[in-house]
Amino acid sequence: PRKIIIDTDPGQDDAVAILLALASREELEVLGIVAVAGNVGLHHNATNARKVVELSGRTDIPVYAGYARPMRRTLVTAEHVHGDTGLNGPDLPTPQIPLQKQHGVDYIIETLLAAEPKSITLCTLGPLTNIGMALVKAPEIAGRIAEIVMMGGAYFEVGNITPAAEFNIYVDPEAADVVMRCGAPITILPLDVTHMIQSTPARLDAIRAIGNRAGQAVYDMLTFSESFDLKKYGWEGAPLHDPTVIAYLLKPDLFEGRHCNVTIETASELTVGMTVADYWHVSGRPANATFMRSGDAEGFFTLLTERLARLP
Ligand code: BDR
Ligand code: CA
Repeated sequence: PRKIIIDTDPGQDDAVAILLALASREELEVLGIVAVAGNVGLHHNATNARKVVELSGRTDIPVYAGYARPMRRTLVTAEHVHGDTGLNGPDLPTPQIPLQKQHGVDYIIETLLAAEPKSITLCTLGPLTNIGMALVKAPEIAGRIAEIVMMGGAYFEVGNITPAAEFNIYVDPEAADVVMRCGAPITILPLDVTHMIQSTPARLDAIRAIGNRAGQAVYDMLTFSESFDLKKYGWEGAPLHDPTVIAYLLKPDLFEGRHCNVTIETASELTVGMTVADYWHVSGRPANATFMRSGDAEGFFTLLTERLARLP
């Protein structure tokens, strides 16, 4: 199986991504989960990561905490979407598994340096603070990363936290900039993809109908976080973001995109955090990422439902 580290700010959609990864043991070996500040503060996100690991029954997975604030900016959070705990919706017990003592960023650096080069993929589901800081502290890790697969940014769908910027990039644009320049292979699942992956009532009912604990929890999570987005967009289902990262690892054919240059705006007050993707190759800047543009929602939900059925 492919070795991955998940860097995340759970978050209901992060939680579904973690469950999808942990349910896919044949393809993915989750080495560890690292929390970052984002949807809510670091403390809640780290607790939520441990709750989700316990929900999956995989209590062997170590959970670390990384940075509590972005590189240079004040933390912006999204309680209005995710609730005060970041994981409102299901009633999950206080986690028993410990939070690892090592700092999450040191864990990422040490793990990459100890492993065979290009054997570990980093999956990022939140702001890029931890990965950016790891690259600043130990630039030599860049050449050792197999791939960075991230949920973040947007081409044509533009922004969700400002008119120009997607949340994960907006929260820590300086970190995103470091990551985009690091030279490792990068695949991006932006809003353009996740706005197609809508958790409609029929799809959520199918997940609940699995009849296990995980299916019920995912139903409760997504019904909670959906209510905000359904009002905002007026669509039949709310976009489901972070699980697309894991689905890409499991079934890359579900997605289509383009290899191009992606540069992060860090200066403009109006458009800070924008992912300026050179879709038409007009800038002459070298391609540094595969920016996905579309995803197969039916294929995605079939995969998700089938995998969640493998959990307790
Ligand atoms: C991203 O922002 C967060 O609120 C979600 O968890 C996702 O990672 C979508 O813009
Ligand atoms: Ca997230």
